Amino acid sequence: MDLIEVSGLTKRYGGIVALSEAQFSAWAGEVHALVGENGAGKSTFIQILSGAVHPDEGKLQLEGQPYSPINPDAAQALGVAAVFQELSLIPDLAVEQNIWFRREPRTALLTVDGKALRRKTLELFDKYRFPPLDPARELRRLTLAERQLVEIAKGLAKDPRILILDEATSALPAKEAEWLLALTRQIAAEGRLVIFISHRMGEVRAIADRLTIFRNGSTVASHVATAVSDDEIVTQMIGRPLVRLYPERKATATERIALKVDDLRSGSRLTGASFELREGEVLGVGGLQGHGQRELFQSLFGASRATGSIELWGKPTQIANPRHALIGRDGIALVPEDRPGQGLLLTKSVRENLTLSVIRRFTDKGFLSRGREAALVKEMVDFLRIKAGTPEQLAGTLSGGNQQKVIFGKMLLTEARVLLLYDPTRGVDVGTKGEIFQLMRDLAARGYAILFYSSDLPELVHVPDRVLVLRSGRVAATLGAGRVSEEAILRAAVLDEAA
Ligand SMILES: Nc1ncnc2c1ncn2[C@@H]1O[C@H](COP(=O)(O)OP(=O)(O)OP(=O)(O)O)[C@@H](O)[C@H]1O
Ligand SMILES: [Mg+2]
Repeated sequence: MDLIEVSGLTKRYGGIVALSEAQFSAWAGEVHALVGENGAGKSTFIQILSGAVHPDEGKLQLEGQPYSPINPDAAQALGVAAVFQELSLIPDLAVEQNIWFRREPRTALLTVDGKALRRKTLELFDKYRFPPLDPARELRRLTLAERQLVEIAKGLAKDPRILILDEATSALPAKEAEWLLALTRQIAAEGRLVIFISHRMGEVRAIADRLTIFRNGSTVASHVATAVSDDEIVTQMIGRPLVRLYPERKATATERIALKVDDLRSGSRLTGASFELREGEVLGVGGLQGHGQRELFQSLFGASRATGSIELWGKPTQIANPRHALIGRDGIALVPEDRPGQGLLLTKSVRENLTLSVIRRFTDKGFLSRGREAALVKEMVDFLRIKAGTPEQLAGTLSGGNQQKVIFGKMLLTEARVLLLYDPTRGVDVGTKGEIFQLMRDLAARGYAILFYSSDLPELVHVPDRVLVLRSGRVAATLGAGRVSEEAILRAAVLDEAA
C-alpha cells in the first residue's frame, strides 16, 4: 500500500499558481526524488505535506487515511518531518537547543534538563554518525554547512516515518553530502520513506528508487529511476531537450591583469594567498572545504578583515568595506554564499533587491527615474528568467533558485567587472545552470574577470579557464587548461607536494 497518496493538489498565492492538480504517491522503504525547475512547486508540495502550508484543493492520504495536518506539529505527530530548504533555526540558541526546540527533555520541575539534552544530542549524532558538531555552540557561529547539519539533526530527532529533505545536500561539502546520501539509503532500508529534493542529477541517480518530475506546478510523470535516462528526465523537467550544460570554453583572457592578490591573509583560514586574475578570464577556486575559499571571497569583497595587497586593474586598492567594493565599473561584486544573510532582503521586493545598491544609476541630478529603473528591472528579470508574479513580489516568497537568480541580477546591475561568484549555482536547476555558465563565458568575452568557487567538482572542471587549488589557506597549485580534472584538483587539495 502507498504510505502517502496525493491527488489534485492545488495551491495559489494571489495570482501565482504554485501547484496545480499535482499527483504523487510513494511507499515505505523507498527513496523518492522530486525533481523540477526552479519554481516548479517542489518546496510548496513538501510544505503542504509537512503541515506548514495549507492547500486550496486536493486529496491527501496517509496510510489510506485522510491527511490534512493543521501545522507542522500535527504532521510530526503522524510521523512526517521535513528538513527545509531555507533553514528554520534560531541564531541565538545552541546547536542542541535548536535540535530539540520545544521538545526539550524536562526535569521533574519542568525546567529544561540540560544533561539529558546533551546526552540525547550526542546519542543522535552517534546513531547517525554525524560529522563533528559541537552541541553547545551557538548557532550564529556556525557556517552554512554546519547549520544545514543541525537542520538535518532536527529532522532526524523526530524519528519520522517520512523524512523530507529539501535540497539538504546543496549547502554541504562533498564529504558531508556523501554521508547524507548514505544516511538516506540507510533510513529507507529501515522501512521509512525518504522524499529527496535535489538539483544534482548525480545524487538523484545515486540514491533514488523512483522519482517524480514537477513542471509549472504539476507533476509530469513518475518513474522507476533505473527505467529512465538523464536526458529523458531533463527533457520532462524543462519541456525541451537540454542542448548542453557546459558551454564551449573559448580562451578570452587578455594580458591585462584585472585583480592581483598578494599574500592575502584573514583569520586562521586564509594564510597567504597570491594569484592573478586576467581580464576575460574565468578563474576557478577549488580545494577541500574549509581551506580558505570562503575567507578569500569575503576578504576580496571587503566583508572580512584581511591583510595583504589587492590591486584592481593595476591600482592598489584598500577595500575597507563592501560599499567600497561595489562602486562602479572598476569595482568588485559578489554573489555570496549565504542567501538570506548577505545577499537578499527577504521582506523587500524583487525590484528593490535588484536596484537598492545601485540606485544612483537611476538617479539623474538627484531625481529618481522610476521608468529607467523599471526598464532595467524588466530586462534583468527577463534575461535571467526570474519567475516572479510581478517585480513587486517579495523576494522571500520566491522559490530558492529564483532567489539565487535575483542575487545574480543584483550583482550584474552593479556594473562591476570583477565578479566574485561563490557557489553561484547552488540550488539552481540544470537548465538555468547551463544559462549561468553561458552567461559567465559571455561576460568573460566582454572583458569581465571572474573568480568562481563551486562546491560541485564537475563544474570546476568544465567551466573555468584555470583552477586555483587552495590548501591550508594558500594556493597549492594552479591547474591550467588541459590539466584540470577532478582527480588533479583532489590530488592538489590533499597532497603535500602538489604538481
Ligand atoms: N508565500 C508565497 N507567496 C507568493 N508566491 C509563492 C509563495 N511561496 C511560493 N510561491 C511561488 O510558488 C512557486 C513555486 O515555488 P516553490 O518554492 O514550490 O518552487 P521549487 O520547485 O521548490 O523551486 P526551487 O527549485 O527554486 O526551490 C514559485 O513561483 C514561488 O514564487
Ligand atoms: Mg524549493
